Amino acid sequence: MTTVYLNGDYMPMEEAKISPMDRGFLFGDGIYEVIPSYSGKMVGFGPHIDRMIDGLAAIGINCNLSHADYQQICDQLIAGNEGDNLGIYLHVSRGTDTKRHHAYPDNVAPTVYGFAFAIPDANVPDKGAIKPYECSLTQDMRWKRCGIKSTALLGNVMHFQKGHSEGNGETILFNEENKITEGSAVNAYIVKNGKIITAPLTEQILPGITRLILLDVLAKYSDIEVEERAPTVEELLDADEVWITSSSKEIAPVTKVDGKLIGDGTVGDVWLAAQTLYTKHKYEY
Ligand code: PDD
Repeated sequence: MTTVYLNGDYMPMEEAKISPMDRGFLFGDGIYEVIPSYSGKMVGFGPHIDRMIDGLAAIGINCNLSHADYQQICDQLIAGNEGDNLGIYLHVSRGTDTKRHHAYPDNVAPTVYGFAFAIPDANVPDKGAIKPYECSLTQDMRWKRCGIKSTALLGNVMHFQKGHSEGNGETILFNEENKITEGSAVNAYIVKNGKIITAPLTEQILPGITRLILLDVLAKYSDIEVEERAPTVEELLDADEVWITSSSKEIAPVTKVDGKLIGDGTVGDVWLAAQTLYTKHKYEY
């Protein structure tokens, strides 16, 4: 049985009900988070909640839950659901109005929903044990506020579906200048001559928490150079390594993009070094 959280209560998922007039349903008017947890230990809880609170502020949703409140919800969801590896999904919509009107309504309480779902095992830093990704490539057609983790994900869904329909696990995106922004549900990186290159934090990408932890760990514990610059499509296809990161994938190597082999088509040494450090230090955040 899956236990979920809805507006202050815990209940079986089948019993959780919201109004069809909820603005999350009508407009995708809300913010969400996905926090990974392994054997009861969450990765990046503080930064995930900071990003949630920033996103809610950016779209003017007044939700008075504190870090401690979110912590309690997450702890209960972890305790109330089976499985060692869980993604904790948190979702705050603007709430339920009586009419469908684009303007933000006054005096509407946000809807807060949370559930836990199974995620893969944490990556073992071992080139032989990891299954690399193959990705599609397409122009980024999303809106200009990709830094907001909005529940309105149609653009991301359509981009992901392109990869899925081509038999690939993700879709990497490029902007109008032919530069790599991120992926449909991941941040993206290339490695060339030992240097990692990844798009800087602008409104063209989501400020990924895996990205935040990874770059901090690399800066603190390694000499590996990181350049925050969006690489071109040509650089991506000519890279020695390509990676994608997200809360449920950690650092995932990519060996094929748009049908083209990356490097020699095997998992690279810089990936191994990065995932090894990430595995060692990820609970420090
Ligand atoms: N996706 N970029 C986009 C567009 C994303 O949707 C995600 C996460 C990321 C990586 O962020 P993080 O490292 O904080 O997970 C980057 C989540 C997991 C999802 O939509 O399910």
